[in-house]
Amino acid sequence: MVETYALRSFNQASPEEIEDALERSEVVYFQRCPVELPSEEDLAWLRSLPGRLKAKNVSYHPESDSVPRFDADPETQRRVETILRTHGQRVEAFLRRVVPDYVHGWTLGTTSFRPVEEEGRKLKPRSSNELIHIDAGAYGATKGARILRFFVNVNPERDRVWGTKGSFADLMTRYDALWDAARNGKDRLRLEGTALDALYSGFVGVVSKVYPLVKVIDSSPYDRAMRRIHNYMKENPSFRDDPTGFKEIRFPPMSAWMVFTDGISHSVLRGQHAFVTTVLVPLENCRRPELAPYRILAAGAPRAAAAATA
Ligand SMILES: [Fe+2]
Repeated sequence: MVETYALRSFNQASPEEIEDALERSEVVYFQRCPVELPSEEDLAWLRSLPGRLKAKNVSYHPESDSVPRFDADPETQRRVETILRTHGQRVEAFLRRVVPDYVHGWTLGTTSFRPVEEEGRKLKPRSSNELIHIDAGAYGATKGARILRFFVNVNPERDRVWGTKGSFADLMTRYDALWDAARNGKDRLRLEGTALDALYSGFVGVVSKVYPLVKVIDSSPYDRAMRRIHNYMKENPSFRDDPTGFKEIRFPPMSAWMVFTDGISHSVLRGQHAFVTTVLVPLENCRRPELAPYRILAAGAPRAAAAATA
């Protein structure tokens, strides 16, 4: 029997309660999406877009005010852009109200539509959403900022089903191998950037003033460590095939939820048609920064650290 994650509704919660829950790696869940959605007509049109929406994501980028790499006639292009731009703006207004401490200096990222059925897509492990992972390096380099994602299941009939094996903090306590993956064969995990990292980020920053989409190639030691943990979770059988702590989370039609996707392990097992809006929240805005992946990695492996001082 599959254990199911019990969802708690946050409709009446205060900003502090919501921020604390997010930082404790809870799923902040709304039975009905608290944000005004596109019209029924627009939603039906998005769901029924033929062949041209075969990509994993159709993503609106606010920095370029466009949906890049989406090859369609100008009318279709314009309509998709308008729907996603408007949805992203509504989510932004909602977040400004319900998580006000996160707003200062945040980065508003993409708003995407996930058009394809997630089950049985037979993708390479690193690209597969069906394998449990934590998100890493979303939208270029996070450099320790938290990855906040607001999801809406806009399928009118079917649940969106996630799997989880627990929070980043739990997993880093349970699996020494994740620390080995983060360290990448080195004695020490270095999170602060070198002069070369600074030079590279500076270069990306300059080029992205002219070509805004270039910012997605930025990186940092922290983001690379998170990427190695992400890849290990998806590729290594000793983690991937271990069912310890596995639970299913079911999101009914037209519900919404938000999570720090760098802080809770997740996979998308089944479902089709969802909106996802991404925001990067500076670590210094968090109420409990010690629970953030950056600070957990900076503190070092509990068991390895204990062995080193024994
Ligand atoms: Fe993910």
